[in-house]
Amino acid sequence: MWTSFQGALAVAVAIAVPWLVHRAWRRLDLSRAKHPSLAGHAKLSRRLAALLPYYGYDERQFFVCDGAPPDVATLRRAGFERLCAELGSRAPASIGFSDALTHGLSDVQFTEAYRVPFQFRNYMREHLRLASVFDESRGVELRDLDRRWAYDVSGSYGVNLFGYDFYKDCIAAGANRVGALGPVLGPFHPVVRDNVERLKKLSGHDEVSFHMSGTEAVMQVVRLAQFHTRRSHIVLFCGAYHGWWDGVQPGLGNRRRIDDVYTLADMSARSLHVLETRRDIASVLVNPLQALHPNAPAPQDSTLVDGARRARFDRAAYSQWLTQLRDVCTRRNIVLIFDEVFMGFRLGRGGAQEYFGVRADLVTYGKTLGGGLPVGVICGAHRFMKRYRDDRPSDACFARGTFNSHPYVMGAMNEFLRRLESDAAIAASYVGLDERWNARARLLNDRLAVEGLPVRVANLVSVWTVLYERPSRYNWMFQYYLRAEGLALSWVGTGRLIFSHNYTDKDFRAVAERFVAAAEAMNADGWWTAPAADNKAIRRAILREALTVRLGRRSAVPVSRPA
Ligand SMILES: Cc1ncc(COP(=O)(O)O)c(C=O)c1O
Repeated sequence: MWTSFQGALAVAVAIAVPWLVHRAWRRLDLSRAKHPSLAGHAKLSRRLAALLPYYGYDERQFFVCDGAPPDVATLRRAGFERLCAELGSRAPASIGFSDALTHGLSDVQFTEAYRVPFQFRNYMREHLRLASVFDESRGVELRDLDRRWAYDVSGSYGVNLFGYDFYKDCIAAGANRVGALGPVLGPFHPVVRDNVERLKKLSGHDEVSFHMSGTEAVMQVVRLAQFHTRRSHIVLFCGAYHGWWDGVQPGLGNRRRIDDVYTLADMSARSLHVLETRRDIASVLVNPLQALHPNAPAPQDSTLVDGARRARFDRAAYSQWLTQLRDVCTRRNIVLIFDEVFMGFRLGRGGAQEYFGVRADLVTYGKTLGGGLPVGVICGAHRFMKRYRDDRPSDACFARGTFNSHPYVMGAMNEFLRRLESDAAIAASYVGLDERWNARARLLNDRLAVEGLPVRVANLVSVWTVLYERPSRYNWMFQYYLRAEGLALSWVGTGRLIFSHNYTDKDFRAVAERFVAAAEAMNADGWWTAPAADNKAIRRAILREALTVRLGRRSAVPVSRPA
């Protein structure tokens, strides 16, 4: 006969087992919805990154780390010396100034360290330093301290959408508009009201809040979603960047343990299933820029160790994906957030919502919207934007910031928004946007194909990335050849070229000429001439080198110490 204890145990087991099975099943769903790459596994990537040792190539290895024969090494060395002469001796003032700046500015030290794969870093620093200062902009060009002009394809991190002259005008006219009040904070300048009305119209949402940067707008939008849904977790998609706040950066780059983020595979039925079945998801954050390279982090040349960079934009497929996300979020009361800090206004006046034909619950903007000054903005429905509860006075969603709604930012933004609506040149730049930029990319790709050069470009309108057809250890070197041809790239090199929409066909043809000339020079200098190897073989070789160093057998790999 069963005792009452046994009976209670049986009941507990009968309840617990299905519950445990259910939990295990949910956990499995979650694992299956992760992208198989390291970027899809935040914790694992942190652990592995901690094991990666530094090692650098010495003088000899720098030119032959792919096993190239001596004649190719000689070719490369001669090309490298020419590059050093061209980039160095033509810009002595700019390089001297940048060097001095580097010693006191940690930001520059960081970007300098991450221009190329780390094995090449020290040698490059010793022999080929770059200038990172300009003192004038004009049209689509920038001028360095040696008075040399270069075509700007860095795009000021995406801020520069309509050309630098446009933003200079916005800042000047905006300052003029609010100058009588000056930097008074707390009370608002009346121009704020016009900004709110215009943003409501553009976004299709009924409320707006102003913040100091895109990162802060994202911090607040996540907090709002958690506050209103009373749920704990947010979903990000593999590879997507949403600013540098650690709450949306669960992988490499910060050390805080983040346990309220699910990083799921982009454009995946399994991710939809997770959204459909879990009860703890407050919001889904989408960065529409990922449409160019779903599931891959922002491409940059410091990670370009082979030729495996992939990108291709498919507007129909991405629109369909966003529609599916919209549907599941609506059904499950999950807040759908479009983070348009980067892409907002680049795809059209109504941004990604209009371009892909999908409405989000909350939208963040920033960058270009500040009219050239720093800003972050949220637009959304009142029921998501409200920061307090009528029935619980101490339960609030706190968000403040000394410089929120700064009059000068509001003034420049107002100029931006007015011109966005009324400027004929801006209206014209939106007509045939896809066709124009796709045709430009095609034109360049056709030229590269005809010349037999192993480089291509992929684009999402005016945001481009460079792809490499040769699985080479030296593809990252292309950024230096482009610079030598007078193209101003950002520190991520060929990972991202950002064009402003005031690029004329003539400007673009000049850039394309220089691009092809750079590829021809790099080809002639033998960097793409190497014993046959595929991308996997290259990665295996790098892994072997790292393991050799890690296991202390340093003599097997030429090593220089970190600078
Ligand atoms: C999609 C997205 N969200 C947020 C941010 C962060 O904006 P900010 O650099 O102004 O803080 C960025 C910056 O690049 C971004 O691209």
